[in-house]
Amino acid sequence: MPILEVESLSKEYKGKGKMNVFQALNGINLSVDSGELVAIMGPSGSGKTTLLNILSGIDTEYSGVVRIAGTSISEMSKNELALFRRQRMGFVFQDYNLLDSLTLRENIMVPMVLDDQEVEDINSRTDETLSLFDLGEVKDKYPYMVSGGQQQRAAISRAIINGPEVIFADEPTGNLDSKSSSTVMKTFAKLNALKGATIVMVTHDPFAASYCNRVLFIKDGKMLLEITRENKERRAFFDRILENLAFIGGGEDDL
Ligand SMILES: Nc1ncnc2c1ncn2[C@@H]1O[C@H](COP(=O)(O)OP(=O)(O)O)[C@@H](O)[C@H]1O
Ligand SMILES: [Mg+2]
Repeated sequence: MPILEVESLSKEYKGKGKMNVFQALNGINLSVDSGELVAIMGPSGSGKTTLLNILSGIDTEYSGVVRIAGTSISEMSKNELALFRRQRMGFVFQDYNLLDSLTLRENIMVPMVLDDQEVEDINSRTDETLSLFDLGEVKDKYPYMVSGGQQQRAAISRAIINGPEVIFADEPTGNLDSKSSSTVMKTFAKLNALKGATIVMVTHDPFAASYCNRVLFIKDGKMLLEITRENKERRAFFDRILENLAFIGGGEDDL
C-alpha cells in the first residue's frame, strides 16, 4: 500500500513582477510504498529540496496532490498538519539540526517530550534507540563534542523516536566524510530492514543512493526515470546509478 502518493505536482517560485516566475517542479508523479527506502537524485538546482519540502509539509504552496497514508496534506488545516508532522513524520537534515544545549540523549527525547508521553516510555524508548544506533557511549555528550556521523545518527534517532510512518531526509550525508556517510546509510538500511521504516531521502551522492532499493531521477523539476536495486549487490547498483547520472548529465560537483 502506498504511504506517499504525489500527482501532477508543480511548484512556481514567484519573484517580483508578473514575468518573474520560476517553474521549480513540473508535473511530478510518484508513489512510495510502506517499507521502501527510496532516493530522489538529480543535479544541483533540479528541485530536490523543493520537492522534499512539499512532501514533508514544510512548503504548502504548490499545485497538485500530495497524499500521506491516504490523506491529502493540502486539505489539512494548519493545526492538523502540524500535529500530523509531529506524530507521523520524521525529518533528517544535512546539518543535523540538533540543539546545542542538550546532550545527544536529551536531543533524541525531544519529540516524545513535546508529545507529552509518559516518562518511563520516553526513557525506555530512548535507551533502546541509543543502543540500536550504537550511541550508548556518547549519549551524555553535547553535539559539539562528537563526530558529524554521530550527530547525524542522533538526528536520525530523534526522527524515528515517535515511530513515524515516513522519514524524510534532505542530503543526510551532505556534510559527512565517506566513512561517516557509510555508517549513516547503514543506519538507514538497518532501520528499513529491522523496523520496516519508510525512508525518502534526496541526495546528489550516488554512494548514499546505492544503499536504497529504488532511485528516482529528477532534472529541471521533471521526473525523468527510476531504477530499482532488486537483489543486486550495492556495488553493482552504485555503477548503475553512475551510468544513469552520466546519461542525465550534471555538473562535475554533482558527482
Ligand atoms: N525560495 C526560492 N525562491 C526562488 N527560487 C528558488 C527558491 N528556492 C529554490 N529556488 C530555485 O529552484 C530551483 C530548485 O532548487 P532546489 O529545490 O533547492 O534544488 P536542489 O535541492 O535540487 O539543489 C533552483 O533553481 C533554485 O534556485
Ligand atoms: Mg537541495
